[in-house]
Amino acid sequence: TPAELDELLTFTTALARTAGELILEGSQAIQQASASDIGEKKNSVDLVTEYDVKVEELVKREIAAAYPTFQFIGEESYSAGSRPPLTDAPTFCVDPIDGTTNFVHAFPFACISIGLIDQRRPVLGVIYNPFLDHLYSGVAGHGSSLSRAGGAPQTLPLAPARPLPSLSQALVAVEWGSDRTAPAVTKKAESFTRLAGDPARGIARGRMAHSLRSIGSAALNFAMVAQGGLDTYWEIGCWPWDVCAGIVIAQEAGGFVTGGKDAPHDGDVTEGILTGRKYLVIRAIADTEGETGLEAQKR
Ligand code: IPD
Repeated sequence: TPAELDELLTFTTALARTAGELILEGSQAIQQASASDIGEKKNSVDLVTEYDVKVEELVKREIAAAYPTFQFIGEESYSAGSRPPLTDAPTFCVDPIDGTTNFVHAFPFACISIGLIDQRRPVLGVIYNPFLDHLYSGVAGHGSSLSRAGGAPQTLPLAPARPLPSLSQALVAVEWGSDRTAPAVTKKAESFTRLAGDPARGIARGRMAHSLRSIGSAALNFAMVAQGGLDTYWEIGCWPWDVCAGIVIAQEAGGFVTGGKDAPHDGDVTEGILTGRKYLVIRAIADTEGETGLEAQKR
């Protein structure tokens, strides 16, 4: 019910701020730490720190105390082998530190991302960047907002949406992600080249984007699309916890989210989708092999 969602939003917002304090404390600690304190998941660019784990433990504990019947899917629990299947039950879907590489490098674009799924659909999202004190939130059917530095919430998008005549006037976010195998990197580089202006495919077709950006956090890319600072975000290979909160926030800001097999591929952002829609997040859900994937979202 709307009252329940309201209460959940209050809880999740407070939890994100508490987690943010721990992220800031961790950032101080990590700058003093040695390289051996930074772990690797699948390769030398897929990083994890003790603070990813600590923040997730804090969030998981608080959720279990307040909502004992809710399910929990979290990036670090998943890595540690706790992989509950997605069911119709209310399920929190959490990335304790999205943008871990930024966190490690003190590049101040890292956040906690807390999403809530109900009946297999993301219904509530909170994304908090404690370095800038930017808190984004969204509730299905009730819009999304941004609170900066303790200020009053501002409705998203910050300015009214304008149609984009073409991709050639768009600011597009892309990410390298953590899959750096040769085929993956080649494919991404080809897509980025087309978007940035490959003479044969880009400029000639008048589809060279204004520019490309990589913030280094999937959740903050969604948030920035919702805010209106980015026109589109395109990435293959995100996990549910990277995108769950962002889906709600972007959609509630009037954004269009698509993923899966039917979505445009390899930078071929279709003008048909783009024109008339200022905010677009393409193919953000992919390659999760349905393990905990938000399949329903694709329809
Ligand atoms: C990653 C970041 C990165 C994106 C990856 C994500 P993490 O999350 O959001 O920008 O390219 O796809 O997995 O590992 O920092 O939580």
